[in-house]
Amino acid sequence: MLLPKEITAKAKSLRPSLASAKPGSIRPQDTGILLGTLGERGPEVRASWEDVAVAIMAPRSGKTTSLAVPSILSAPGPVLLTSNKAAGDAYTATVDARSATGRVWTMDPQQIAHTEQAMWWDPLHDARDLPGARRLAGHFVTASVDASNATDFWSTAAANTLTALFLAAGADGRPITDVLGWLAQPADRAPIDILKANGLTAIAAQLQGTVSGAVETRDGIYETARQYAACLLDPGIAVWVTPSDTLPEFKPADFATSRDTLFLLSKDGGGSASALIAAAADSVMRSAVVQAERDGGRLDPPLLCILDEAANVCKIQDLPDLYSHLGSRGVIPITILQSYRQGQKCWGEAGMDAMWSAATIKVLGSGIDDADFADKLSRLVGEHDVESISHSTSESGRSTSTSMRQERILPPDQIRALPKGKALLLATGIKPALLQLRPWYKEPGAAAIGKASAAQTAAITDRARAKAGAAA
Ligand SMILES: Nc1ncnc2c1ncn2[C@@H]1O[C@H](COP(=O)(O)OP(=O)(O)O)[C@@H](O)[C@H]1O
Ligand SMILES: [Mg+2]
Repeated sequence: MLLPKEITAKAKSLRPSLASAKPGSIRPQDTGILLGTLGERGPEVRASWEDVAVAIMAPRSGKTTSLAVPSILSAPGPVLLTSNKAAGDAYTATVDARSATGRVWTMDPQQIAHTEQAMWWDPLHDARDLPGARRLAGHFVTASVDASNATDFWSTAAANTLTALFLAAGADGRPITDVLGWLAQPADRAPIDILKANGLTAIAAQLQGTVSGAVETRDGIYETARQYAACLLDPGIAVWVTPSDTLPEFKPADFATSRDTLFLLSKDGGGSASALIAAAADSVMRSAVVQAERDGGRLDPPLLCILDEAANVCKIQDLPDLYSHLGSRGVIPITILQSYRQGQKCWGEAGMDAMWSAATIKVLGSGIDDADFADKLSRLVGEHDVESISHSTSESGRSTSTSMRQERILPPDQIRALPKGKALLLATGIKPALLQLRPWYKEPGAAAIGKASAAQTAAITDRARAKAGAAA
């Protein structure tokens, strides 16, 4: 399914723009995303333009250099990258090359790359209906608490309150930062009046109920909501999501049909901008699906979404659900995690299980140190028959008997001992395979990319120094 001939045929069926091209004239990178080679020097193995992937490898085992960077460099269409690093990472290695393909949008509210602000994005654009506002509120909750704590009373009530306030701000054409004022003053009637004036009477009544409820309860709910929205208090962060007269607005709907690149950079943890990063990535993927439906089903060229460090900076709550329909729309997510457990912590056991099952491509690299997970993988790879010969001696002489027994093809200890640069590929419809990864720095053209990456990294340092100098 994933070898050159099959992947080319598949690309022709998935991408109308390639349908009439002669197979020999299609560039390999247009046929799918390179995952590695089969064995040391075997054929190239690619994910198709309807696959959805999850990659799990320990830190420094090649997630960014072997998956994120090469797939971004060869992407035929728009690209989205989330990351918590810039210098010497995917951002610096790809930003120059991608500027040649289309426009580069960098959202860097926490100054990971010390990028000067050259865009703004409106998170409330998608929050003009109840499901959209609820999703946006969900991003703030998920960025702050683990899946196991997101469903208690205070979390749920705070999420409902944020939903109502986002909805009110969106309905009234206000910036998202106006919500901070309402959170600080629960007695302010403005959001309730706006909701009513916009026919959102049930939500208005619910918000009214919270505001006029027992004071301790109300204050508890509002304080929880304030904690979730705390990153917006930072003016350096807020400015990226507040309308600007001079800077261009990033519009997810236009992005889907562009050849542009969106770099979404954030630190990890509570109070970080990761809620906004997740919200932006979510908005991009959903807008792309809507666009694909308008375009007759699939985006061509497809949208590549590299969710690097996803459990740290891109905790989209319903990513597991999204997985079941993104691929068929030409929106190709690659969620990159350090361990299965990291995914469980972020999406809950059931959520991670759902994402794992929905992923048509699973890439498992070195450093899997979780015994249960290694055993699960070993069982997925399956068993084979092994002939076993036993000798016995009896009064009638020596005899030899042959029996068959079942053995794991890849025992758990071998999975845990996978060397750096190798990965196990589990893909729907094909036998498990051992891949040789292909980091960008060992590919043709590495010298130029290395040089560009070093220059970009130096530029980050310069910008950081200039700021420190200006502040001193
Ligand atoms: N340009 C390069 N040349 C040689 N090795 C590199 C280069 N860039 C990164 N590496 C090495 O590749 C390994 C994998 O890095 P990376 O893909 O960033 O890991 P991660 O899985 O944490 O994303 C690291 O050990 C790193 O030192
Ligand atoms: Mg990395």
